[in-house]
This record gives sequence, structure tokens and C-alpha cells, in this order.
Amino acid sequence: MTIHIGAKPGQIAETVLMPGDPYRAKWAAETFLDDAELVNETRGMLGFTGSWKGNRVTIQGSGMGMPSLSIYANELIRDYGAKTLIRVGSAGAMQEHIKVRDVVLAMTSSTIATPSTGFFRELNYAPVADYGLLAAAHDAARAKGVPTHVGGIYSSDVFYAERPDLDEQMIRHGVLAVEMEAAELYILAARHGVRALAVLTISDHLITHESLPSDQREQSFGDMIDIALHAAFT
Ligand code: ADE
Repeated sequence: MTIHIGAKPGQIAETVLMPGDPYRAKWAAETFLDDAELVNETRGMLGFTGSWKGNRVTIQGSGMGMPSLSIYANELIRDYGAKTLIRVGSAGAMQEHIKVRDVVLAMTSSTIATPSTGFFRELNYAPVADYGLLAAAHDAARAKGVPTHVGGIYSSDVFYAERPDLDEQMIRHGVLAVEMEAAELYILAARHGVRALAVLTISDHLITHESLPSDQREQSFGDMIDIALHAAFT
């Protein structure tokens, strides 16, 4: 057990999918895993371990934002030996050609700050996805026929942003989408020598102001889980 995860030693798999929402972790485990077992419910941040096509997988909620994700990712890697961590979540599109429901695979992520900013001091570190996971996720997404974009995203500390000028610069410089967790996940994975990727579905659009209808949310989330599982075990 750790401060934030109640699982016993051995109850967490080496491959961990991390949705922000703990109830999505429950839905994904019940929908995709065989013999899913609840392994964590500390603070309601549900985690389940089961198997997918004979491979052991944990699906653990990360909470929203980089400070929350940092707590879970640190404990999963350092205390439970997680070796592959894949964020599965939603993002807001920042380019006209990206549509609601499309998938974005984050090659890198820009930030204003992350929980590691103090640690790096003057270094403006560039977080990157694991290339093997990224390539495998791209193949899996194309095989499913889901429109998929690969490139840089933005990990924000705020959902309710108040800097239209900053959005404008990011749009101009080709940033694909905004979310709130990937950059710190990539930084922690690099620090500890493990693999990470963020597989994102577009839930809203910063330019067109469209949003994903609620009856399509489950389908999109399911596509992401499927892509993440295929990527992890390719
Ligand atoms: N996650 C999904 N949509 C988002 C947005 N517009 N900003 C930040 N995180 C998001």
C-alpha cells in the first residue's frame, strides 16, 4: 500500500491505463478486461486489475490535472513497478482540420509549468512519448478507421483559460489539442526509464465550439481504450 493507492504488492500490473475519471476506469475494466478486480478505492480513485487477451492490465484513475496525475504515476512506477503508462482521456481541439471524436496521439506536450518545473530550474525540458507505443497506437487507430492525428499538444493547468492570446500563438504554431495531464506523465516516465503515451479523444473544439454529444462519449472512450490496449501489447 502507498499513501494514495490501497492495492497490495503484486496487485498492480506492469501495464497501466490511466483515465482521469475513476468511473471511466470502472467502465473500461468492466467492458474490456477479463476477471477485473477492484484493487484501489482510496479517496474514490478507483483502480482495477484484470487481463486483456491474456495480458495483465491495470486501469487506474489519475484525477484531473498534473499534480493529481503525478501522485498516482509516481506511486505506480516507484512502488508498484509499472513499466508502461498510457493516459486515455479527452482534449479540446486547437486546429480547424481536427474534428470532435477524432483521436490525437501526443508526440510531445508544451506547458507553462508542470509539477517538475521547479526541479528542472532553468531547463525548458521537452517531454516526449515513447516512440514504440506511439507508432503502435497509430497503427491500431488506423486499423480501426478512426481519424487520427499525431503531433504536439498543450498540457494546461486550467480548464477555464483566460488567455486567448496564448491560444492564438499555440494554434498558429500547430498545437493540436489541449488537455491537462500528458506533459507530467511523459516527464515522470523519462525520469524513471519507463514508457508513456497519451491517447486522446476530442471532446470539444476551441475554434468551432462544437462538443461531443453525450450519447457518443462512451463509443469514443471505448475506441481509445481499444487503441491503448493494442499499443501496449504490440
Ligand atoms: N480536456 C478536454 N477539453 C479540454 C479543454 N478545452 N481544456 C483543457 N482540458 C480539456
